[in-house]
Amino acid sequence: MKNQPALFAGRFENRVALITGGASGIGRAVVDRLVHEGAKAIVWDIDAAKLQACQNTHKDRVLTQRVDVTDDQQIQHALKEALQKFSQLDILVNGAGIVGPNGPFWQVEVSDWERVMRINLFGTFYVSRAVTPHLIDQGWGRIVNIASVTANEGPKNLGPYAASKAGVVGLTKSMGKDLASTGVLVNAITPALIATELLQQLSAEYMAAALSRIPLGRPGTLDEASALVCWLCSEECSFSTGATYDLSGGRGL
Ligand SMILES: NC(=O)c1ccc[n+]([C@@H]2O[C@H](COP(=O)([O-])OP(=O)(O)OC[C@H]3O[C@@H](n4cnc5c(N)ncnc54)[C@H](O)[C@@H]3O)[C@@H](O)[C@H]2O)c1
Repeated sequence: MKNQPALFAGRFENRVALITGGASGIGRAVVDRLVHEGAKAIVWDIDAAKLQACQNTHKDRVLTQRVDVTDDQQIQHALKEALQKFSQLDILVNGAGIVGPNGPFWQVEVSDWERVMRINLFGTFYVSRAVTPHLIDQGWGRIVNIASVTANEGPKNLGPYAASKAGVVGLTKSMGKDLASTGVLVNAITPALIATELLQQLSAEYMAAALSRIPLGRPGTLDEASALVCWLCSEECSFSTGATYDLSGGRGL
């Protein structure tokens, strides 16, 4: 993305976006595209080295903050600091996530189950809860929650991840309805395999099976993921809320 011209130059001029999990993978691709198209970005992640790399690339167009989305106190503190710097917030992308354990559910450690839920589901709730009053005050906002095709599928050996992402889809529906009269739209995407580091957490067996079930026969690209997320963040997306958008090369249908 970085070396390509903006597809929609200036689309996010005067917008400020907060992206969790924004230091790598899909989140970073979204940061790159939003900034490329005019936005300023607040990037939250727990990976300090990758945050620094993002800061080095985008300089004063971004504020990178080491924030764990499972920690509501960190969220409140970082949000206050970010709002002091940028004075506004228009867009939230909840991208922080982990896959967690691979294996049958009865062999999953309770601590692993809780970790996946806390990052993928609780984190989405905590950050949305903190940010939403600011979006309501402005009378305009876009929230995009990154779920997963596994939310609908419930794949074998991926119970905690699938359950956490199904939770995100359900939460998105309620959030969309709760905010329907405010100018703030909330939507989710359900990707299948997008070529990122997160895929390294999946077993070779899972990967082979997953690819065989994608009618388009390949993983999605980061550009394809950021294109959909950014459209959902834009003014052009105006008659969808609480919705879930498939991004699975046909697998999720
Ligand atoms: N890559 C795929 O195929 C795929 C498919 C479906 C859904 N997703 C979802 O897309 C999102 C992004 O995944 P990705 O593939 O880009 O993975 P990634 O591992 O490249 O990015 C996830 C980011 O979240 C950050 N993170 C993890 N725990 C965090 C925490 N507690 N607080 C703050 N940040 C935290 C990580 O440091 C990382 O930078 C995730 O929610 C993932 O579940 C990915």
